[in-house]
Formats: sequence, structure tokens, C-alpha cells
Amino acid sequence: MTTDPFLTATELKMALSDASQVFVLVDDNTHHCCLPLYERLFGTSFILLETPSGETHKTLHEATALWRSLLGHKANRHALLVNLGGGVVSDLGGFVASCYQRGISYVNVPTTLLAMIDAAIGGKTAIDFEGMKNQIGAFHFPKGVFLCPDFLMTLPQREVRSGLAELIKYGYIAHPDLLEADGNNYVSHIREAAMVKWRIVSEDPHEHGFRKVLNFGHTLGHAIESHFMNTKTPLLHGEAVALGMYGALWLSVRLCGLAPDVFETYRGIFLRNFTSLACRFTDKDLEAITTLTLCDKKNRDGEVRFVLLKAITQPVIDVAVDKEAIKLALLELQNLMKI
Ligand SMILES: NC(=O)c1ccc[n+]([C@@H]2O[C@H](COP(=O)([O-])OP(=O)(O)OC[C@H]3O[C@@H](n4cnc5c(N)ncnc54)[C@H](O)[C@@H]3O)[C@@H](O)[C@H]2O)c1
Repeated sequence: MTTDPFLTATELKMALSDASQVFVLVDDNTHHCCLPLYERLFGTSFILLETPSGETHKTLHEATALWRSLLGHKANRHALLVNLGGGVVSDLGGFVASCYQRGISYVNVPTTLLAMIDAAIGGKTAIDFEGMKNQIGAFHFPKGVFLCPDFLMTLPQREVRSGLAELIKYGYIAHPDLLEADGNNYVSHIREAAMVKWRIVSEDPHEHGFRKVLNFGHTLGHAIESHFMNTKTPLLHGEAVALGMYGALWLSVRLCGLAPDVFETYRGIFLRNFTSLACRFTDKDLEAITTLTLCDKKNRDGEVRFVLLKAITQPVIDVAVDKEAIKLALLELQNLMKI
């Protein structure tokens, strides 16, 4: 995989005209917020497929409904599916495309910041299953990704912040310029960030090793996200990652020799961008999050493996971290959230 996957409008138009049939998948928000712009750019000769919005609909039930629609419209192997939406639409649509008639082509047109710089790139498709995220899926690479920040005009600020956390993550693992991104200037960083994701993915397309650097901030982040999922104050994925990175940087100073000022600088970034997070950590929350971290499905041999940093742009994968250190990192987070 040498050439990048990003399509110009002309290239996307060509892909659309080459297909036997074009299907555009939207969710109920992107239907009214994004489809009008898509139609202005690419015309109206497509069959519309719609799925309900939100993670709770990234399911086999919705995938089945979409396969049924494709079949009902007699879609053949030369059909093209355009996923117009955030990561839920691209994960679900990509998965549907990966299995329909053993795989049809699809294009991602991401409409959230998180999807533009992350979810739409890299060929990982999935649905949630039996209450667990991304349990069923396939690697199936899109024919291309069309990046158009104009779609973000209608995106709620909270969703923007969630994507911003992932964008800042790339600043730590690969591209320090991205550490300058904030809620005002993020649009100018989208393409660089998307290229970072693409470069990492193309070095390790099937996640055998190096691609794990993308999990920086995610070990604690996933545990925090899962813990708050069924409460009155659920967190968006990127919000949990912003917290997880705080813990990971704190651990990096102690375990990998990261310079303390890198952690302090992130503290400033966090306070500028993410203090509106509604969650507070009680002692009971800390216990539960520690337990969830110890149960992470990526653990091996009873040890929790983190991605930490030796320095900015020098991630270290598979660092074993014990329960005491995890607890201390979470205590730091508890103190931060009291501010
Ligand atoms: N495949 C991957 O490599 C990968 C990587 C990261 C995340 N993901 C997945 O991505 C998903 C999260 O993606 P997300 O954060 O984009 O969430 P999402 O797709 O649920 O979108 C967030 C919300 O914004 C709405 N929306 C989307 N675009 C809009 C727009 N332009 N204007 C107004 N509203 C809009 C959606 O309808 C939804 O309500 C998760 O399921 C996660 O597992 C996948």
C-alpha cells in the first residue's frame, strides 16, 4: 500500500460513474445535515440507504437490514457503497460491504472530525456484538476516502472535541505540529492528521505490531469509557481518550523516562480543551476503572500492556504496567477532574 487513499472530487466522481449502481449510506443526522452537500458535489443518481444514528445501532441487526436492501435492489459485485457519516456509518457500511457477495467496493465520505482523521482510514470495519464493541468485523480497505471539512459545519462542538483528542494523540506518537491544534484551528490540521493515520496503517495494515501505537491513551481510555457508558454521564470515545492520554503520559514519565515537561504541557492542553467533561471520579469509580483496565481484551499473560512514550514521537508498545501504577495514574486523574 504505497499511494494514499485520499480521493479528489474528480476521482470520486469517476469511481461513482464506474460502478454498476451507487448506494449512499447515511444515518438520521447525516441524512439531513450532510446529504444536501453531497448531492451538490456529486449529483443525485444513487439509491439511499439509511441506518439509525449512534453506537447502539452498529449491530448485526442493522447490517442484516442493509444486506436485505442491497439484495432487494439487485446490487451486484460492481456496486459501490458510499458511507456518508461518522465512524459508526463507516464501520457498519464497511462491514456490510466486506461480506456482501464476498466483498463489494466502498468509499468513505467522513462527516465527523474523528472519522476524517481516524475511523474512515485503515480498512478496519466492524459491528458490536453481545454488548461488546467491534467484536465482529473484517479488514476491508475502502476504494478511497474523500475528505471535505465543509461537512463539519453542523457537527456539535462536543463531537469536535472528541475528534480533537485523537488528533492530538497523533501529535504525541508521530507528528508534533499537531500538538498546536485546538478547538479553533483544527480544520487546518485535518489532512496532516489523516496522513499520519494512513502512514501508520500502511506500515502495518493488519495490526501485527507497529499499528498498536494508535492505542496510545486507549488502555485507560477504554476502561473509563466503558465504566461511564451506562451512567447519567457517558463519555464520547475521544473524551475518554483525552483522559487516558493524561494517565499514559503520567505513567510514561515514571516508567519510560519521558521528560516531565511533556506531561505538564499536556496538562495545559487538557485544561484548555477538555475541562468541560462532565464526569467526576469517586473512589468507587477508581476501583471499577482499575478492574476494567485489568480485564482489557488486549492484555496478555495477566499483565496490562500500555503504549507509553519515551519522548514525543517515540512511542513504546507493550509496556507492562502493574496494578499499583495503574491506581496511581488514576488518582492523578481524579485530582485533575477536581479542578
Ligand atoms: N475503524 C476504525 O479504525 C475506527 C477508528 C476509530 C473509531 N472507530 C469507530 O467510530 C465510531 C465513532 O465514530 P464517531 O465519533 O464519528 O461517531 P458517530 O458516527 O456516532 O457520529 C457522532 C454523532 O454525530 C452525528 N453526525 C455525524 N456527522 C455529522 C455532521 N456532519 N453534522 C451533524 N451530526 C453529525 C452522528 O449521527 C452521530 O450522532 C465508533 O463506533 C468507533 O468504534 C472506528
